[in-house]
Amino acid sequence: MKVIAVANPKGGSGKTTLVSNLSCFLASWGYSVLVLDVDPQASALDWVAVRPRELPRISVLACSPEGLAERLRNAQSSTDSRCLLLVDLPAGFPVRAELDIHPYLDLLLVPTIASPFDVRALVRHLFQLYRHNFDAGKGPKTAVVVNRARPNTLLHKSVLDSFLARIRFPLIGEIRETQNYPKAAQEGKGVVELPLRSVIKDLLQWRPILQWLAEDLRPGEQIDLFPGLELALDEQI
Ligand SMILES: Nc1ncnc2c1ncn2[C@@H]1O[C@H](COP(=O)(O)OP(=O)(O)O)[C@@H](O)[C@H]1O
Ligand SMILES: [Mg+2]
Repeated sequence: MKVIAVANPKGGSGKTTLVSNLSCFLASWGYSVLVLDVDPQASALDWVAVRPRELPRISVLACSPEGLAERLRNAQSSTDSRCLLLVDLPAGFPVRAELDIHPYLDLLLVPTIASPFDVRALVRHLFQLYRHNFDAGKGPKTAVVVNRARPNTLLHKSVLDSFLARIRFPLIGEIRETQNYPKAAQEGKGVVELPLRSVIKDLLQWRPILQWLAEDLRPGEQIDLFPGLELALDEQI
């Protein structure tokens, strides 16, 4: 069972948004998705509680920060490649605790807002991780996604981009700020489950992120990233 964590010590950077949307994409690829909600605010649990029954099933379990490493260690004994474990980490999760779980992670996604404060805080955080663990190829395969992107965030995105290039983490995507995300969250859905016409721009932004995941989950395979939608999407572009 592969394990994907979504982390950034800053609250409001988009961790739960990424986890909920990723869950929907991955469930549509046929994976059985289990989310561990490590945040006492329990947003992922709230999200799944209102998820419509007719949509692909996603399981969400609460997990305490103290119990997480043990949970992930146990998950390693599962050889079921159709199951995926997604970890929604809370704001303020300490670097030390994050490093403790890195041995159990296959992939680590870091969403960030491209504002000066957020970029600086993230660079500091990544530097701490990098110093401890990420040199010599240790640690999970990691990538950063800019969230709530607006046209005027370009400058800070480029600062982030050049820092990431130095420490060899890719910036794999950019998710725009749109009401589609709160709307989907309120309905227990991902944007991929909203009417196609309103989410075309969003799905196109998810493509490189999903491709990055697919390269690890299904190396060498051609994956239909948006099953049933890919054709309609190609026709509408
Ligand atoms: N791209 C986006 N566009 C608009 N609103 C967003 C976007 N990403 C997140 N949000 C909203 O911002 C708030 C914080 O996002 P959330 O994913 O809960 O962050 P975190 O889990 O990192 O604290 C939520 O209300 C969410 O709906
Ligand atoms: Mg959250």
